[in-house]
Amino acid sequence: MTVGVNKRLLVVTGKGGVGRSVVTAALGVASANAGRTTTTVEFDGLSSLAQLHGLSGRQFDPRTVTPKLDTMSLTVMECLGDFGRRVLKIGALVRVVFQNRIVRALVDGVPGIHDLLQLGKLRNLIAEPLPRDRKYDLAILDAPATGHGLTLLDSGLTMAELTRVGPLHEEANQIEAWLGNSELTGIVIVTLAERLPVQEALEMLDNLGAKRTQVVAVVLNQTQLTTEDVAVTEALHAAVRGAGREDLALLLDRERAVANRQAQAAAVLRDGLEERGLTHIDLIILPKLRTTVDRSGIDTLAAHMEVFSG
Ligand SMILES: Nc1ncnc2c1ncn2[C@@H]1O[C@H](COP(=O)(O)OP(=O)(O)OP(=O)(O)O)[C@@H](O)[C@H]1O
Ligand SMILES: [Mg+2]
Repeated sequence: MTVGVNKRLLVVTGKGGVGRSVVTAALGVASANAGRTTTTVEFDGLSSLAQLHGLSGRQFDPRTVTPKLDTMSLTVMECLGDFGRRVLKIGALVRVVFQNRIVRALVDGVPGIHDLLQLGKLRNLIAEPLPRDRKYDLAILDAPATGHGLTLLDSGLTMAELTRVGPLHEEANQIEAWLGNSELTGIVIVTLAERLPVQEALEMLDNLGAKRTQVVAVVLNQTQLTTEDVAVTEALHAAVRGAGREDLALLLDRERAVANRQAQAAAVLRDGLEERGLTHIDLIILPKLRTTVDRSGIDTLAAHMEVFSG
């Protein structure tokens, strides 16, 4: 499958803690390995991605991870400054105006404007890069956890309705023209291979409304379902049985039981996708790494993503 290949933006969403940041970083590496100039992006000044890519701290401007991969971390205020320079064309005034306490209070008081400003920067970077900007084939957004992630996907629509006229209205329309366009934007849902998280992922699909058709992949993260995992467990099983170590065999049975339960959850997911006529959606199954996920762990996970390999 080559689902991710023709998109310009992938929005990685899912519940808190399931591994959205890890999956974003791994998708970034997989995309860059497939030869596409890629950036991973996070909002709200987090520094999860930088760490996973082996960098420290956070930075608004893109930082190089590998020759084809950058990462960037946006904040609302930096994006507001950028918006001022780019759209309102008030250049040097920007800093003075936007660091003003009253302006900050105003911005914080408008629901949805945080998402809009950060999405606006992101859209602008991919759609209308300035001469000094790097030209990205693909940006991959580590979206805030759902439900917030769902409102993020609709924030162009919502803000366009709220604002009616003016530069924010135009910005909102442009954002929806991107987020609602299945040629440009793909959605990746991350979940775990357990009954409840799979159910929640299916509910998330249903809640996406018209954007449901833009889901390109569901990731089952932290599983023991990959062929390597299964092969190792089976080989160990044969060895300990051969050595007459029933005690160890029992331990391995427990591992097998987990894998079986996860396989059932994966089957529920496949059925759920089929019932919804969404069989084109890729199922990406990632192993649970036994070490802390660092840059080399991300490389390992990226190797499990055939989405980009064509
Ligand atoms: N495949 C994996 N194997 C092992 N550990 C993993 C894997 N994926 C994620 N983790 C670990 O699980 C934890 C959560 O992952 P991550 O931070 O990517 O989740 P998140 O959805 O971005 O969380 P948050 O909602 O806090 O942003 C981290 O400690 C991460 O190292
Ligand atoms: Mg995260």
